[in-house]
Amino acid sequence: MLEKVDRYLQLMRELDLRLVKAVDTHLHADHITGLGALRDRTQCITVMGEQSQVDVMSMRLADGDKLRIEGVSMDVIYTPGHTDDSYSFLMQDRVFTGDTLMIRGTGRTDFQNGDPRAQYESLFGRLLRLPDETLVFPAHDYKGDTVSTIAEERVFNPRLQVKSADEYVALMNGLNLSNPKMMDVAVPANMRQGLHQDEVARRGWAYSAREALDLAGQPDVVLIDLRERSERERHGVIPGSLHAPYPDLRENINEGGILHGLAQTTGKQLIFYCAFGERSAMAVQAAQDAGITSARHIQGGIAGWKEAGGSTR
Ligand SMILES: [Fe+2]
Repeated sequence: MLEKVDRYLQLMRELDLRLVKAVDTHLHADHITGLGALRDRTQCITVMGEQSQVDVMSMRLADGDKLRIEGVSMDVIYTPGHTDDSYSFLMQDRVFTGDTLMIRGTGRTDFQNGDPRAQYESLFGRLLRLPDETLVFPAHDYKGDTVSTIAEERVFNPRLQVKSADEYVALMNGLNLSNPKMMDVAVPANMRQGLHQDEVARRGWAYSAREALDLAGQPDVVLIDLRERSERERHGVIPGSLHAPYPDLRENINEGGILHGLAQTTGKQLIFYCAFGERSAMAVQAAQDAGITSARHIQGGIAGWKEAGGSTR
């Protein structure tokens, strides 16, 4: 939640944690997300599903992907129904269920492309098939509970005591809930979470995808891909580019780092790119701060590159 960002940052300082990725399970209607603010204040990677209507995310996931953070890996499970961009994340003994499966409840399905039949499938076909003892952490709970288990919900969740998808659809369609108070404000605000890449462009640190097409392959530039291996495999790579994942950026651009050395010894211009231009925009700023004045990025990332007709391999 946007109004709690200070509190999250304080807690991370107290626990000596560094925020690497911030994930929204879906586009929220009942509060404004803190996702963009967390990125602006920590330079973390923002993550949502590929279906999400948000303007720009650093990284988008799909069903079957893994969400990785240094030694931690979560299985990405597409669980539509509450919204069409709802995801759950399974990490060993626990699952983060967003608003799909809540404690003694399930997320409403009557707006934002909600679909009770899809939710039935997400619940009974995906989440309830996890081992009984799996801990369930929903996105929120209006009564103050924080954790349950799959077995507990199967038995005591009143929404799950149905015998068929049709029965579930009838139950959900009969709820007649009023819209959340914040909805008219929250939904549009949550759809605009992208980093303001125009700020970086104004400083002259951005190339449009079209400009980058002409620069790629020239001897005095090096293209650097900041994405993760899974993204490279799925969406392709700009031919001839180097791979230097965003989480290692600081190490690479600081004095003694590979990219710092590369820029210094060869005098080549470093051009960062990523999926949609968000990580690369942050990387340009960081590289400039580290004294690499030639650093630039490709606005719009590899998505923009492809749109401009750029090839990948
Ligand atoms: Fe929600």
